[in-house]
Amino acid sequence: MEAYLLEWAGVLLRWLHVVAAIAWIGSSFYFVFLDNNLLKPTDPVLVERGVDGAMWAVHGGGFYHPQKYLVAPPRIDSKLHWFYWESYTTWLSGFALLVVTYLWHAEVYLVDPARHNWSPTVAALVAVGLLGAFWLVYDLTCRLAGVGPRADRWIAAVMLGVIAVACWLVTTLYPGRAAFLLMGAMLATAMSANVLFWIIPGQRKVVAALTSGQPVDRAALAIHGQRGKQRSVHNTYFTLPVLFAMLSNHWPLLTVAEHNAFVLFTLMLSGALIRQYFVQRHGYRLGREPNPLPWALAGSALIVVVMVALAPRGGGGESPGAAAVDAADRDAVAAIGALVQRHCLACHAGPGAMKGVRLDEPEALLRHAAAIHQQVVVTRQMPLHNATGMTDEERGQVAAWYRGLSPQ
Ligand code: HEC
Repeated sequence: MEAYLLEWAGVLLRWLHVVAAIAWIGSSFYFVFLDNNLLKPTDPVLVERGVDGAMWAVHGGGFYHPQKYLVAPPRIDSKLHWFYWESYTTWLSGFALLVVTYLWHAEVYLVDPARHNWSPTVAALVAVGLLGAFWLVYDLTCRLAGVGPRADRWIAAVMLGVIAVACWLVTTLYPGRAAFLLMGAMLATAMSANVLFWIIPGQRKVVAALTSGQPVDRAALAIHGQRGKQRSVHNTYFTLPVLFAMLSNHWPLLTVAEHNAFVLFTLMLSGALIRQYFVQRHGYRLGREPNPLPWALAGSALIVVVMVALAPRGGGGESPGAAAVDAADRDAVAAIGALVQRHCLACHAGPGAMKGVRLDEPEALLRHAAAIHQQVVVTRQMPLHNATGMTDEERGQVAAWYRGLSPQ
């Protein structure tokens, strides 16, 4: 029953998490787009009112005319909409999902004794600790650097180093799938914390000053806007790397690669570079930024580097004669029962079998044949973290067994 309920919690939380994340990243993309498309108003009425930038857009059967006031408008005369539930809901649902999918069964998902042999409880606590630690390091870096273009270059340089070290650390401590996910969760936690600790509190101070009825000291308030903008720009560069890391458990090719820290870091970096292309593209089309294409090319080049690095090497050679394959197939069918016994039943027998996949009945092997082939031969996810030390030769026997079953 526990497994069944956990499965449902996973379904519902993942659904919520993806919907909230779409709302959050969608509005974040929208505001980056908006900021980069605002033009200084020429209309004297807008200039008089202190509008700093405005644009026209058409969408869904109407025309929109957003206007931005730097620091603050003279007054706010209707309901003020805040953007924060998207971010908080994404983080809360994501954290809950991390708990039910990874931390709950830390012994299965977070501990790979071949990589790092430690207690599941410690592995889970360290995972949560890493989320907080990453935020503290990033936040301290930003506080020390201050605001402005020079500060941002410093922060980018320091954080590239910090993220490279973090990629190495998580892949050293955790199985690939968990490591990639944790890296994504660390960046995503910093993104939500930016909203919670800097962006929203800064805006609250500005709104409080505006509505206090007291004369407004604009120069003193400006720093809140600059800090909020800085953190929100950082969040923009985190989005593509985070989405890559969050989705990565669909791609064992990447998560279980030998140098998976390099794969993780390089592909996240390519995401940040490609994001820069999109950000700069808005300004380029208005003639105020240089051509952003080199960023996209640099990002794409990194993807190609990883593709080349992971490409299967050598192999080929002489293909065995038909008779040899036949003999191998016969042996494979005989061997499969013993293989499953040795490598699978620890986790896949009885009513509590992992994922409900029971392999302790002969007909179950046939029923799950395609899934077994997929998990053992194609993605090599099973046996989980190769807990039982299955050899390539044994995987070859599973492949031969499956070939023998499927119509040629
Ligand atoms: C150490 C425990 C362990 C061992 C050993 C193990 N598995 Fe699994 N297996 C799991 C877990 C945990 C899952 C659920 C994976 C997930 O959530 O993605 C799973 C899932 C599966 C699935 C379903 C995958 C899916 O998501 O649809 C198949 C099929 C499978 N295992 C086959 C095998 C085979 C075949 C072997 C032996 C060669 C094996 N497993 C050995 C733990 C194990």
